[in-house]
Amino acid sequence: MKRTLITTADGSHSLYVKDLDEHYHSIHGAIQEALHVFIKSGLQYMHNKNYQEINILEIGFGTGLNALLTCLEAEKLNIKINYTGLEAFPLEDNLLKELNYAEWIANLFHHEKKNVKKIFEQLHSSEWQKDVTISEHFKLNKINNTLQDVQLTKAFDLIYFDAFGPRVQPDMWEDELFSKIFSATTTNGCLVTYCAKGEVKRSLKRIGFKVETLPGPPRKREMVRGIKE
Ligand SMILES: C[S@@+](CC[C@H](N)C(=O)[O-])C[C@H]1O[C@@H](n2cnc3c(N)ncnc32)[C@H](O)[C@@H]1O
Repeated sequence: MKRTLITTADGSHSLYVKDLDEHYHSIHGAIQEALHVFIKSGLQYMHNKNYQEINILEIGFGTGLNALLTCLEAEKLNIKINYTGLEAFPLEDNLLKELNYAEWIANLFHHEKKNVKKIFEQLHSSEWQKDVTISEHFKLNKINNTLQDVQLTKAFDLIYFDAFGPRVQPDMWEDELFSKIFSATTTNGCLVTYCAKGEVKRSLKRIGFKVETLPGPPRKREMVRGIKE
């Protein structure tokens, strides 16, 4: 899968996949989207429900942007995160080196750039299929597999569903895989995703999630949170 670097409207990088004509993030702002969909509507939402330790599954680890933001937010909130990052097509080192997330995120979190860069590098250099401690607040286990084939052996409180969109990867958004995720979600746990298409919401409802349509990130009308009651 050939990917090229692009700059989104908030100045943060993303990747473009020519074969799919699809981007890794919103072109209106990669970091803004990640902060809104995954951190605010997922992580902070769970923290507000008094979770002090959260098992997170990310579908599509990709650039590691969501993992990096989650790691720093966990420190800020003083909570513990066990993060499982599922990825079918890991990124090449040369692309990872070009991504400008560390400098942007260092400013946002008032951290030193070199410290954020170090965490970002650790997220990517850590071994696959192994529990790795990244910080006092953040443990990572990256799995190099597809959602279709992976066996989800533990339960997750929060799912970051960040697959390519239903236009280019329709099977990722259908009942069968949502059902697999639902079975691996703890009671009162939730799934968040940037996509608010009617078909996706109907599928999540059929599987058993209570679906909430929330305001989306800049220039995107809506996003979705599915709660397992
Ligand atoms: C929209 S991108 C988002 C990536 C990541 N969350 C980020 O912020 O960079 C979708 C990701 O899903 C991965 N992917 C594609 N098909 C997959 C599959 N069947 N199972 C697991 N991951 C998949 C892609 O390689 C890509 O990294």
